[in-house]
Amino acid sequence: MKMSSKLKSLVVLLIVINLCMFLHDSLSEYFLYANEREDDPWFTQRFDKAVEPFLTVEHKLSMHAFKWWKASTQLQPIERQSFDDYQTVVDALLKTFPAISKGAEPGPAERCRMCAVVGNSAHLKDSRYGHLIDIHDVVLRMNKSPIKGYEEDVGTKTTHRLMYPESATDLDNITHLVLLPFKIMDMVWLQKALTTGFKGETYQPVRANIQVNKSLVMVLNPGFIAYVHRVWLRRRSGYPSTGFLAVILALHMCEEVHVFGYGADRDRNWSHYWEKLKNPNLGTGLHYGKQEYYLIQKLADRKKIKLFKRRFTKS
Ligand code: C5P
Repeated sequence: MKMSSKLKSLVVLLIVINLCMFLHDSLSEYFLYANEREDDPWFTQRFDKAVEPFLTVEHKLSMHAFKWWKASTQLQPIERQSFDDYQTVVDALLKTFPAISKGAEPGPAERCRMCAVVGNSAHLKDSRYGHLIDIHDVVLRMNKSPIKGYEEDVGTKTTHRLMYPESATDLDNITHLVLLPFKIMDMVWLQKALTTGFKGETYQPVRANIQVNKSLVMVLNPGFIAYVHRVWLRRRSGYPSTGFLAVILALHMCEEVHVFGYGADRDRNWSHYWEKLKNPNLGTGLHYGKQEYYLIQKLADRKKIKLFKRRFTKS
């Protein structure tokens, strides 16, 4: 009798162990992956924790970073603006949006945040990733990507939307606008578009006003764009794409980064999940899309991010 109860306990123990191993294996397919950053020289040579991702009173950009930023975007030379001009514009921004001065939200040091970065690739079509995307603490989306009508594939939650004047769209009251300042004019636009209205155009007509919650406005540190271009892309493109900036930003904001909606179509165009490709020669624009995707893939191979690829559920 004593033996049999011992045997029973052993059997129960074995079942529990097997169950745990099964659960671990199944979950790890989705979320649990070794995210050791410090032990990977390839990663530590590129990932620089010291670069502040957001513009704040304390991080208004050094002269050194300013030069990099100006040199690293093809859009800047047309402006011919000086460091003093830049500082005047930023000071005005900080006065208009006090939230910017408070700085970024808590990063990985405070708690482990699980972030989804949702690119705009046509690969999201019929992916049914929506539920998976929605369970993340932070969901970064970009530009004009629509949600309505695509919920099953792209989810419904957005905590941050990355955009610049030429890609701007209205936001709800709970979403952070993250401006990507590729040029000084972009910061002027932000201030005007949320107050008196922006008159004029950049390299194309832009919205005069947009609807966003002013207290949730954030601005990417131009020094961060320069860092991504110089260190991650080794200056091998005009400038980093919104999507690539979003992935590196997420690495700086979150401990777990899950990436959805990246990848060109079979003709190497950056086609979108919501529309038919209008320009068959679109390619990846001014960006070095091939290299960016190679790095995203490499980050996934080295288990720094998880890349959710194209998936078709329809027959
Ligand atoms: O086209 P758009 O710039 O709005 O897309 C946002 C980002 O999504 C791009 O910067 C790119 O990084 C990514 N993307 C992609 N593959 C596509 C379309 C977009 O990787 N087919």
